[in-house]
Amino acid sequence: MHICVIGTGFVGVVSSGVFSSFGHTVVGLDVDERKIDQLRQGIVPFYEPSLTDLLIAEQQKDHLTFTTSYEEAISQSEVIIIAVGTPSAADGQADLKYIFAACESLAPYLQPKSIVAIKSTVPPGTLPKAQELISRTYLAAHPQGPALELGMASLPEFLKEGSAVADSLHPDRVVIGAREDWVFQKLSELHTPLQAPIIKVSPESAQMAKYAANSYLATRITFINQIADLCELNGADVQEVISAISPDKRIGTHYWYPGLGYGGSCFPKDVKELAAYSRSVGEANNLFNKVNELNEDRMTKLMDTFDKEIGGWKGKKVALLGLSFKPNTNDTREAPSTKIVPYLLAHQARVAGYDPKARLELTDQTDSASEFVQKNTLAEAVIGADVIMCVVEWPEITDWDFGRSKESKPQFFIDARNQFDQTKLVSQGYQYLRIGKKLHT
Ligand code: UDX
Repeated sequence: MHICVIGTGFVGVVSSGVFSSFGHTVVGLDVDERKIDQLRQGIVPFYEPSLTDLLIAEQQKDHLTFTTSYEEAISQSEVIIIAVGTPSAADGQADLKYIFAACESLAPYLQPKSIVAIKSTVPPGTLPKAQELISRTYLAAHPQGPALELGMASLPEFLKEGSAVADSLHPDRVVIGAREDWVFQKLSELHTPLQAPIIKVSPESAQMAKYAANSYLATRITFINQIADLCELNGADVQEVISAISPDKRIGTHYWYPGLGYGGSCFPKDVKELAAYSRSVGEANNLFNKVNELNEDRMTKLMDTFDKEIGGWKGKKVALLGLSFKPNTNDTREAPSTKIVPYLLAHQARVAGYDPKARLELTDQTDSASEFVQKNTLAEAVIGADVIMCVVEWPEITDWDFGRSKESKPQFFIDARNQFDQTKLVSQGYQYLRIGKKLHT
């Protein structure tokens, strides 16, 4: 099958590589020439395990090409997948300008029978608008025909950064939102090699499924974080609570890691969008407002709590371990570090950050910005630290032997992902603090 993926951001690049590995002929299209040049050379502008190898292999097999030409890409494609960005608009809803720009640009070059599937996260109601725009633009370009038989679909994406290729090759399910049988059939064929169940639903249900999945997971994280806060007040231990509730199959063991709140490019944005969308359709009083609010306030709340526990951040040297928003990615969007570093600088601490892959660009260059340095190794970051704070569970960090770097002065160890063996760290001389249990050890 000949397909075009519009947008070479994270989802677009991964989808291009994965669909071409199924034996389809894929053209990745972007208006950004620099990105396309890099991708042609096998250079991926972000860190994602095994993606570079996949792109190089697929390009060598001639299954995958990249271009900036709509004419070249669209005129040879039966299925066009739109995977452009949908930044948040001022009111919190998804800004669909890049979706509509792509629709307008692709329309003149469509084959008379084509499918356009939107993979970007968009609210229900987007598809008819996109369809109308494409049809109108096509007609203007082809007033004498041939008539356009256009199949529209929603193809939501559920992959996770850090395991995107594996998630795409082994998804839990594929969701296809469409109305016509021929569209379902063609898009099912597109995913043929996958063993995953294919869920056929309406476009609106597919779009809601994406928002529902991400908002549910974000709510689950917020929920356990709230339970953790209560545990800190009443002597319970959130890890024991988790072990006591998770055998209930309705609850389960997964996705129960308390921490400093969820981050990344999807959860914060999708929850805010669902809240804004709810308000726009008259559901002002909705759960998603509250989830977003709790998550946004969480970092400061916990940092204030730690401030009391360690006798104040002021003047302390802090080793901040993990700058990305989660392990196996260099993505720092909505990462804990983006809030913790400014907080610490504002509280007159000095910060030595370390991450195996990510570098943090501080957006606000305050006078105290020079008190934040990024080290090339974990060993360097912890030298002279009064407080070691682990905020991302990179294996290099969780496997590190902190006994070796323990200094003779008192040192706090803040385990903000509840990953470490408390007994061991205490025996090594650290004063250990974590999430969801009041500790003064
Ligand atoms: C998420 C969804 O999982 C994925 O299905 C969707 O397509 C995109 O958004 P991603 O943002 O890559 O994927 O990361 P994920 O692993 O889900 O983590 C999101 C955030 O939640 C991270 O900040 C992570 O640290 C946090 N998290 C996750 C927790 O705090 N606790 C958990 O138990 C799980």
